[in-house]
Amino acid sequence: MGEEQVSAVEAVELEKVYYGAVPTTVLRGINMRVEPGEFVSVLGQSGSGKSTLLNCLGALDRPSAGHVRVAGQDLARLDDDELADLRNSQVGFIFQAHYLQDEFTCLENALMPVSIRKGNPGDEDLARVTRLLERVGLGHRLRNRPPQLSGGEQQRTAIVRALANEPRLVLADEPTGNLDSASSEQVFSLMREINQETGVAFIMVTHDDRLASQGDRILRIEDGLLFEE
Ligand SMILES: Nc1ncnc2c1ncn2[C@@H]1O[C@H](COP(=O)(O)OP(=O)(O)O)[C@@H](O)[C@H]1O
Ligand SMILES: [Mg+2]
Repeated sequence: MGEEQVSAVEAVELEKVYYGAVPTTVLRGINMRVEPGEFVSVLGQSGSGKSTLLNCLGALDRPSAGHVRVAGQDLARLDDDELADLRNSQVGFIFQAHYLQDEFTCLENALMPVSIRKGNPGDEDLARVTRLLERVGLGHRLRNRPPQLSGGEQQRTAIVRALANEPRLVLADEPTGNLDSASSEQVFSLMREINQETGVAFIMVTHDDRLASQGDRILRIEDGLLFEE
């Protein structure tokens, strides 16, 4: 009772510098917060730091300065093993490429985060992930392997894989970037519907203004800073 709502993800003065031959400052002090149930779109030119931001929010990369909290946990306080656990259990990732493994079936691919977490998936996991695959229209594809699926079907499998451990947050980095417009529309709609049905927060990077505007909010990255539209 009276418990404060914990944000799905929060960034405070997040900075990221890549130290190459010439240091590149990509993020210059990002402040943002995404609440459970929100669907947030991120726009920005190529090279503006969209993927860098998502990678820092999802514990794939460490910020140079500032803080990220996922489900209330300050990532700076976690060691690499704890970060890996947090990524596996609290965060789902969807990329432009599906990164499904050809030697596994659609169902096995979707179950991968569960297998990583606990070894063999239990009956409940199987039932939950199968239901999700049915939800995205892949009930007839469970035993197929990725090369036998269309691009849209592959990406729908990747959506279910992202959701397999019931994360708080899904980070989608140009998830429709490789798809034709009909499949893009379908993949986007499924993510949006699942967001509304389950309350899992989504942050989606896209170049498609029309899809971006169908979320709850649009954030734009420019010159290393984030602006709310
Ligand atoms: N691992 C890295 N090392 C050095 N520079 C990088 C690295 N990753 C990204 N960059 C640079 O950071 C900037 C932002 O990249 P990125 O986040 O991938 O942009 P976006 O996703 O918006 O296209 C680019 O200038 C890119 O070259
Ligand atoms: Mg990118």
